[in-house]
Amino acid sequence: MTTSLRTQVAIVGAGPAGLVLSHLLAEAGIDSIVLDSRSRAQIETTIRAGILEQGTVDLLARIDPDSRVHSVGDRHDGIELGFDGERHRIDFAGLTGRGVWLYPQHEVLTDLLALRLSRGQDLRFEVTASRVDDIDSNRPRVIAADRDGGELIIEADFVVGADGSHSVVRHQVAGRSSEGYFREYPFAWFGILCEAPPSSEELIYSNSDNGFALISQRSPEVQRMYFQCDPDADPNEMSEAEIWDTLQARVPGTTLNEGRIFQRDVLRFRSFVARELRHGRAALVGDAAHTVPPTGAKGMNLAIADVVLLSSALESLLVRRDEGPIDAYAELAMRRIWKAQHFSWWMTSMLHIAPGASDFDRRRQVGELRTVVESEAGRTYLAEAYTGWPFATGA
Ligand code: PHB
Repeated sequence: MTTSLRTQVAIVGAGPAGLVLSHLLAEAGIDSIVLDSRSRAQIETTIRAGILEQGTVDLLARIDPDSRVHSVGDRHDGIELGFDGERHRIDFAGLTGRGVWLYPQHEVLTDLLALRLSRGQDLRFEVTASRVDDIDSNRPRVIAADRDGGELIIEADFVVGADGSHSVVRHQVAGRSSEGYFREYPFAWFGILCEAPPSSEELIYSNSDNGFALISQRSPEVQRMYFQCDPDADPNEMSEAEIWDTLQARVPGTTLNEGRIFQRDVLRFRSFVARELRHGRAALVGDAAHTVPPTGAKGMNLAIADVVLLSSALESLLVRRDEGPIDAYAELAMRRIWKAQHFSWWMTSMLHIAPGASDFDRRRQVGELRTVVESEAGRTYLAEAYTGWPFATGA
């Protein structure tokens, strides 16, 4: 059985990039169909990142009058950097007038899915795209299969790959899907979720001789914490007592609130940027286009910045028949992507201990951290990048 559908923009992927794009297009009067291979429950329960830039929060609140970002999310006006037994606060609000919000990605998605469904807009779960055809024509098509194996052919004016790091659309846009700029890191994060109230009002990013640790939060009852580990570490190998000892040793000066650990995972680090973000009538956004290591909290925010730019380019293309902005999309998006790549790489390399680091490397790293915290210019760079640069709209 084959079902044929027609829309203006076919969006592959119902993550933050795909869903925010669908809402921005709807505001401009452009129809879209959003597909995702996962079920609604899977999307709403997968634990991912937690930090939203000020611009992301403002956009979510504007798109969705019922967004819970302000009621459930928690504003943070700074972070703490720890190194050499000291603690230094980076005062985002004082340095930039901006802050960030701790509002987990699955909550953002829960809000955006509910909004799309409540407006009767097309959103299909458990539909897996297998390829995109004819992106060099004005009628590109997404070929997909639904959960019962039925074939779905969606003909559109434009196709967007918002389908994450294993993107199917990337094959067509960027040639071989590996085509791009890569960097691997020799460490990963061991992440836990535990039942205990926050140990610190603000996030603590700590560089210690034993390796990096990050003390984050999820809610008044749940903490999210990470520590640097080997990329091949088995998350089930450590006992709870060993995990607490490891974390505690890496944040001197803070007594961590301990509680039952109910989730543990190992997150590998990668930096990646696809070589091409757009080809003909298809473009990439979010993790399909790039991956950053999590240290700068940029992943979801960068995805939102991509779609702000792409939505206005699609509006020009589809409403005003002006091809200029879509032709400029990749180059403009790349400017922010590489700034975010740099920031994420910089935070990562400044805060982690590379395997085999020499005494020189360690002392230089502490010198680098001191350069940042002791200079208003250094603190301001970190604060501007962390809270997010203004969105480009290409207009
Ligand atoms: C998180 O809470 O999951 C989190 C916070 C800050 C980061 C990365 C992850 O830089």
